[in-house]
Amino acid sequence: MRYVYLIFFLFVFAAISILGFRGSKTTKPPLEVFSDMDRMPKYMPQGESSFFSDGRTDRLPVDGTVARGTFHEDEYLATGKVGGDFGSGFPLPVTNELMERGQERYDIYCTVCHGAAGDGNSMTKKYGMLAVADLTTQRIADYTEGNIYDVIANGRNTMLPYADKLSVEDRWAVVLYVRALQRAATGSVEDLTPSQKEELGL
Ligand code: HEC
Repeated sequence: MRYVYLIFFLFVFAAISILGFRGSKTTKPPLEVFSDMDRMPKYMPQGESSFFSDGRTDRLPVDGTVARGTFHEDEYLATGKVGGDFGSGFPLPVTNELMERGQERYDIYCTVCHGAAGDGNSMTKKYGMLAVADLTTQRIADYTEGNIYDVIANGRNTMLPYADKLSVEDRWAVVLYVRALQRAATGSVEDLTPSQKEELGL
């Protein structure tokens, strides 16, 4: 008879330990026989630190840090400036590939505000963002290439920078495509070759 009680007790114990307390929540830390290094002294992202004087665990890169593979010795290529002033011309070979790359990047990053034709007729304008610049105006057509590059890299007034989305080469590609849009905006039938005119029935 003793064994019957014992087996009954073990059965109840097993049933409670397997089925009981399921899904119940507690704010108390779990019982820990072996901690398995669950807790260790470490800094969490965006956590507090008493070690650094600004109290943050996240550290900024040392001034002048350049990401691997992104250092450009050519000042004009990297900044659009020559000795502090905006330079003109393209520091990369101007090719059809660069133009196509520029068109693709422009359509991804700029069209939403400046419009596919660069004239500022865009989706954001439709929704009431009226300050977006028309890139085909004479004022911006007169900008040097370095100046347009600088707008993309560092932003200007209410326009945010695109340096983290567009690599140095891509920025120049977009500058090239902006030039194409500006040229297209002032184009006339006279710019077409005779065979192109024929094709269009002009
Ligand atoms: C979120 C909307 C937005 C996007 C996306 C955007 N821009 Fe702009 N951009 C603006 C606004 C707004 C202005 C007008 C800034 C001002 O003068 O206040 C502007 C101005 C400019 C100017 C003229 C700056 C001047 O000096 O007047 C250029 C050039 C330009 N953008 C190029 C670009 C290019 C190239 C891209 C794509 C890489 C781009 N923008 C993407 C909103 C945008």
